[in-house]
Amino acid sequence: MIKASDFGDDFSWGVATAALQIEGAADMYGKGPSIWDNFAKRSGKIKKGHSPAMACDFYHRYHEDIALVKLLGFSVFRFSISWPRVLPFGKGIVNEEGIRFYHNVIDECLEQGITPYITLYHWDLPEALEEEGGWTAFSINTAFNAFVTLCARTYGDKVKNWIVLNEPFGFTSLGYMLGVHAPGKTGLTNFFSAVHHTAIAQADGGRILRAEVSGANIGTTYSCSEIIPYTQSDADILAASRVDCLMNRLFIEPALGMGYPGQDWEVMEKFAISHSTWRHTERLTFDFDFIGLQNYFPLTIKYNAFIPVVQAWEVKAKNRKKPHTAMGWEINGDSFYNIIKQFASYPSVKNLVITENGAAFNDKLTGGAIDDTERIEYFRLYLLAVLRAKKEGINITGYMAWTLLDNFEWAEGFNARFGLVHNDFKTQQRTIKSSGYWWQEFLGK
Ligand code: NOJ
Repeated sequence: MIKASDFGDDFSWGVATAALQIEGAADMYGKGPSIWDNFAKRSGKIKKGHSPAMACDFYHRYHEDIALVKLLGFSVFRFSISWPRVLPFGKGIVNEEGIRFYHNVIDECLEQGITPYITLYHWDLPEALEEEGGWTAFSINTAFNAFVTLCARTYGDKVKNWIVLNEPFGFTSLGYMLGVHAPGKTGLTNFFSAVHHTAIAQADGGRILRAEVSGANIGTTYSCSEIIPYTQSDADILAASRVDCLMNRLFIEPALGMGYPGQDWEVMEKFAISHSTWRHTERLTFDFDFIGLQNYFPLTIKYNAFIPVVQAWEVKAKNRKKPHTAMGWEINGDSFYNIIKQFASYPSVKNLVITENGAAFNDKLTGGAIDDTERIEYFRLYLLAVLRAKKEGINITGYMAWTLLDNFEWAEGFNARFGLVHNDFKTQQRTIKSSGYWWQEFLGK
């Protein structure tokens, strides 16, 4: 039986959230609109037309919700700052009410003995900046740096743990290439320019935090998935390596001073050549104190000549008759171990923190309780993978479960439930699931 103590006394255990997914109060208390507030108003963009306007109403319920974090036994609470809540137009005028809100959240954590981890960017770009081109525009870097400086100077005395970006591949690919997330842009030109400005932002953000916050512990997070070729054919192996370049290597390698992984993929190399600034790896490099890994599933990849750019296609878990979550994501603890090893194999990665991991299932509220045994099994399996990597000497120092509450799961709306605590979105009634109680026991509270 796996125990928290197996991970050592100084291992930190947390639960992660994001502003847009939980806060609500979308157009209240001086907050400006984010790209997600607007995207959700466009018909057909979010399943069942759900909106993040109220979400979990965390804005008004943070006191009780942070008490839940404590009750479940976690000692770390990860949340993000909504950029348009503190800077309604993305830059310029500061919304003092927004500033006060995050002071309240931080103070509440500190009073309860919980260590806050702040994510600076978890996808809710101010709409006013999107009107200038968002992440595709070079001007985003000036605006982002001013936002980071404001947050660091405002909260840096109280908060030492900082995460610059949440899953840069996630928001640049889904939002600027595939158009299924805000702001709904498509195409390779949009994608690669968003990628470059984002890669600059992650390193610039790190440098600003280093300069402004004494004693800061600075990280950034990456989505990661083991990419498994469907067969051992050359075509499948090459297709898998292209997907690996995109999904796993695209952002960490420039941060580590290696530049973009163009040498292994000619499409990226062409972009790198046409954008001479891409060669300037120095500005893209920052020595992070920790690298945050967020893993949910592996991908099995097959060559497919008809798919533009990557010529690769995923063979879904369901079609391979593999266990999967309600999102259709394969459940596979070994793949988590393998991808941890892959990221740990970069010599300059010093410290890994699992900044998100969790699963959505079709939870049923029966008689006031949710018996989510599948989620408990998922956590057990994935924690074993972390422990195995740790025992082999990989420096993993923390784990954060995704997520505290069922919340607004982006384009899936409220349909995908990832929480340890169930939320009734009509009444905002919170109910701890069996998995929440499992964590409480696991953490010995
Ligand atoms: C990663 C994202 O950071 C988070 O916002 C999202 O809810 C989870 N994955 C689950 O999809």
